[in-house]
Amino acid sequence: MKLIELISRLKEEAKVSSFDILKVLSQIEEKDISFYLKDNDIEIITKTVEKMEKYYLEEYPLEYLTNKVSFLGLDFYVDENVLIPRIETEDLVLLAIELIKSKKINNVLDVGTGSGVIAITIKKNLPHVNVWATDISPSALEIAKKNAKKIGVFINFKQGAFIEPIIEDLSKIELIISNPPYVETTYINKSKQLKYEPRIALDGGVDGLEFFRKLTLYSDNLKDKTLLFETNEFNSTQASKILSQIGKTKILQDSFGKERFILVSNLD
Ligand SMILES: C[S@@+](CC[C@H](N)C(=O)[O-])C[C@H]1O[C@@H](n2cnc3c(N)ncnc32)[C@H](O)[C@@H]1O
Repeated sequence: MKLIELISRLKEEAKVSSFDILKVLSQIEEKDISFYLKDNDIEIITKTVEKMEKYYLEEYPLEYLTNKVSFLGLDFYVDENVLIPRIETEDLVLLAIELIKSKKINNVLDVGTGSGVIAITIKKNLPHVNVWATDISPSALEIAKKNAKKIGVFINFKQGAFIEPIIEDLSKIELIISNPPYVETTYINKSKQLKYEPRIALDGGVDGLEFFRKLTLYSDNLKDKTLLFETNEFNSTQASKILSQIGKTKILQDSFGKERFILVSNLD
């Protein structure tokens, strides 16, 4: 299909500007946008046309079409096996890095690592820190391993639920970080965009708090740890109440001023 036909079709069906279309096209084909401005007669291959249609007409995530996400300056591979890392999680990692430095922490665990962004970015920035990472999903863990290899860091990956796979090494761990599934089930069911991401990465049960509740079953194993969680601004107060069974909690804001992170410190 000619570029000019593709633009006119998508403009009409998706009500978007030519510039927006060219921007997306340049990301999908990994070409500079100026390439498309040279010539009106450019032919677009069928595979690209299909991807453009999927993006504009089915709201399929661009990150899954390009298999790429930039996170704190590093490039990660993503596909439908993992959550698309969100910008707020960059704030979580920056908070974790500050905490690791100020408390002189050497051993860190990322629970629910997904694509591996949290564990890998921490290791890349603080190479002296030992990092473990777990995920309940074997296919997510494969992606995280692929990213660690691509970025060139060593992470101790383990498959399993919560802290189960790391129970034997748990005494070494000083800080646990997690961006767990915290979205309410009904919200996911109504959302057009979230339907392409793994449900296991998103679904926090009826009130979005199921992961936090289940984690407190391990309270006795976690009393001497520092923990840092991401959630959303709607359930952070409730999540904080639940997590107070493990230690003293404090709600922290993201860079948009939303109360989204929960720090749990040791009970002194
Ligand atoms: C919200 S995603 C976060 C992924 C990644 N850490 C990030 O921030 O982009 C949650 C991840 O937790 C995993 N998960 C869900 N329930 C879990 C559990 N009970 N134990 C361990 N991992 C779990 C999912 O497979 C998913 O990869």
